[in-house]
Amino acid sequence: MVRVRLEGIKMSWEDFQLDIPHLEAKAGEFLTLLGPSGCGKTTTLRIIVGFERPDKGAVYFGEKLMNHVPPYERNIGIVFQDYALFPHMNVFDNIAFGLKVRKIPRNEIEKRVIWALELVGLKGFEKRYPEQLSGGQQQRVALARALVIEPQVLLLDEPLSNLDAKIRERLRGEIKRIQRELGITTIYVTHDQEEAMAISDRIAVMNIGKVEQIGTPLELYYNPNTEFVAQFLGLSNILELRAVEGKVCLGELCFNVGRDGKVKIFFRPESVYIEEGKTGEIVSYELLPGRIRFRIDIEGTIIIAERFLSEIPFSIKNLPKRVGVRVKQFSIIG
Ligand SMILES: Nc1ncnc2c1ncn2[C@@H]1O[C@H](COP(=O)(O)OP(=O)(O)O)[C@@H](O)[C@H]1O
Ligand SMILES: [Mg+2]
Repeated sequence: MVRVRLEGIKMSWEDFQLDIPHLEAKAGEFLTLLGPSGCGKTTTLRIIVGFERPDKGAVYFGEKLMNHVPPYERNIGIVFQDYALFPHMNVFDNIAFGLKVRKIPRNEIEKRVIWALELVGLKGFEKRYPEQLSGGQQQRVALARALVIEPQVLLLDEPLSNLDAKIRERLRGEIKRIQRELGITTIYVTHDQEEAMAISDRIAVMNIGKVEQIGTPLELYYNPNTEFVAQFLGLSNILELRAVEGKVCLGELCFNVGRDGKVKIFFRPESVYIEEGKTGEIVSYELLPGRIRFRIDIEGTIIIAERFLSEIPFSIKNLPKRVGVRVKQFSIIG
């Protein structure tokens, strides 16, 4: 297990600058780079691999400076979005390829390929060709091919983006299990916040070439430092209000903030509780699987609330016009 560290990385093209003063994946950690398309996730991975040479800064594996170590000597397993399997080779040969290049003896290759196939649940598929496999199976082969070289670091760049929802969910669970089992330091790239939350030890949220915040999924979800992080991780309520004597109110809905002046109050829809009362007016609602999402107007500001159906004290067929609103968990942005 090795720690991966970026220090003072700068890289620029005409209309894009990547600027990462410090970023690290701890030894054995599952770190995800999460951000919208074009924010610099792939470039960051390419710098770690050594495909891209930054204008400034250093890449370390443990205490070892990697800047001048060529990609093939960095001992990294990589999985891309488009499986990138060799179409004319069967599954066995696809997985064995990296070992043959490394001149590993034949019987050792066989042992390791079988081990990798078992790991990804594809034992018995050795003789198939890529075109005879589903997208999910092809991506399992790509994962086996990355792991068979026993890399010290595993990098995955949107490995599930080309698969449909059901398979994506199953495979992300598998990736997580395998990562745990091997304890391999992993950096995973995605633009899908749900995937990032489900799979990661920590997430680094990226925006326009910068890391906006890094933390555990729950830290980022309930205590975002910026509006961008808040919005990117899911539905949010953000109220800009003026606090007086340590307290801000939107109509009857009050928050103790312990400071005065302008504040941005942040809370998730599921932190909003609905009860009997007159705090706000239900403008509309949507039914979701097992849940209901309200839009509630309080003094001209719309608040989103989400509850399980079983939690609201009214029948949906007979909703009152006005309801009581309570917020159980909030944080202050900025
Ligand atoms: N070789 C390159 N030459 C010029 N611009 C590039 C190059 N590689 C990436 N970029 C630019 O860098 C930005 C970030 O790209 P990328 O790292 O691929 O983002 P992401 O993976 O988050 O979608 C984009 O604006 C892209 O156009
Ligand atoms: Mg990318």
